[in-house]
Amino acid sequence: MYKELTIAQRTIMTPGPVEAHPAVLQAMTNRILGQFDPNFLAIMDEVKEMIKQPFGTKNKEAFAIDGTSRAGLEAALIALIEPGDKVLIPAYGRFAFLLGEICERAQAQVKYVEKEWTAPFAPAEVIKEIDAFQPKIVAMVHGETANGQMQPLAEIGQYCRAKDIFFVVDMVATYGGVALSVDDWCVDLAIAGTQKCLSVPSGLSLVTYNERVEAVLNARYQKELGLSKTDRNKRHIMSNYLDLSQLQRYWNTERINHHTEATSMIYALHEGLRMLLNEGLDAAYQRHLTNEGALVAGLEAMGLSIYGEKATKMPTVTPIFIPEGVDGEAVREEMLHSFGVEIASSFGDLKGKIWRIGNMGYSSRKENILHVLAALEGALLYQQAPISAGKALIAALNYYQKTT
Ligand SMILES: Cc1ncc(COP(=O)(O)O)c(C=O)c1O
Repeated sequence: MYKELTIAQRTIMTPGPVEAHPAVLQAMTNRILGQFDPNFLAIMDEVKEMIKQPFGTKNKEAFAIDGTSRAGLEAALIALIEPGDKVLIPAYGRFAFLLGEICERAQAQVKYVEKEWTAPFAPAEVIKEIDAFQPKIVAMVHGETANGQMQPLAEIGQYCRAKDIFFVVDMVATYGGVALSVDDWCVDLAIAGTQKCLSVPSGLSLVTYNERVEAVLNARYQKELGLSKTDRNKRHIMSNYLDLSQLQRYWNTERINHHTEATSMIYALHEGLRMLLNEGLDAAYQRHLTNEGALVAGLEAMGLSIYGEKATKMPTVTPIFIPEGVDGEAVREEMLHSFGVEIASSFGDLKGKIWRIGNMGYSSRKENILHVLAALEGALLYQQAPISAGKALIAALNYYQKTT
């Protein structure tokens, strides 16, 4: 006999996954509907419209893909790439390399432009590289979760549009937490996820794209052989599962029988979007900013330093230098096991140098900010780290008092 699951009580303050909203978990317990049930199709239609709002777009197309955020990134990039196509990847953090990896596997000719991870690119730096490389696609990350920096996109997007280059942007870590403007920034194809500022479990990815991309999808459309022996296409997209040209026809009136939809996840997505849109996007963005301000005030009062350029820091991720002589992993373990609070380490050159605290979605709440500060201070004092004791919570509470 196997025992029932016992799930620990946690305050999740990583940059994803974050705590799912209780209403989202509740929505997932609804009964299953068939994927072509009119009741379910009406939910899909509403979800399509809801997805567009945090993206800041009037695009006709926006829908969910089954699979974590990288499924959306892969679907997006392979929809545009044909072998030998040139893709420019300006990289100021880890996730740009994921974009590049996907492009390389799709046999694109990839050029990385690299820089220190402490700040994003000045748009002129990227524009210079575009002129030199003449790519078909520029792919970038809006918010780099690994180092907490955020790229200004408008100038680069407008330049790409003027040169007829596709601009593809990973908005996984900012969607729902930061104001986005896909249309004004001339982003042709944008991708987001569910497990961050939407407070929905991991497992879906969101995409939106404009008519420029739609035209490519129409030119590359191939219907699955079991559904049609005639809709063949020499330029078809390399994946069947992550084929936007077929997925678009599943999410629209044609309703081709592509995959068996994860209906419970779509209920969760609907509820996550509903909670966000009912709160109001501006109110949600302000909540993230206020909680970020209190978190940073508390950390600095403790004597800790924030990593990276302040002006371009993401409100949803706060990277902190691990103080000299402190064992960063021992502190994280103490926080998890004694306080039930989870924070994240980082990747690449930053591994062992910084911790990252997430401030996203349902986890972006005053009590969570106070819990994470208390747990971090406790774990650091337990290791006899040289910090200013007893100041962090007061600084955070004073910050809330001043701003709310
Ligand atoms: C900016 C960014 N892009 C992509 C991903 C990949 O997302 P997933 O793990 O959901 O596939 C992440 C995950 O943390 C991310 O932060």
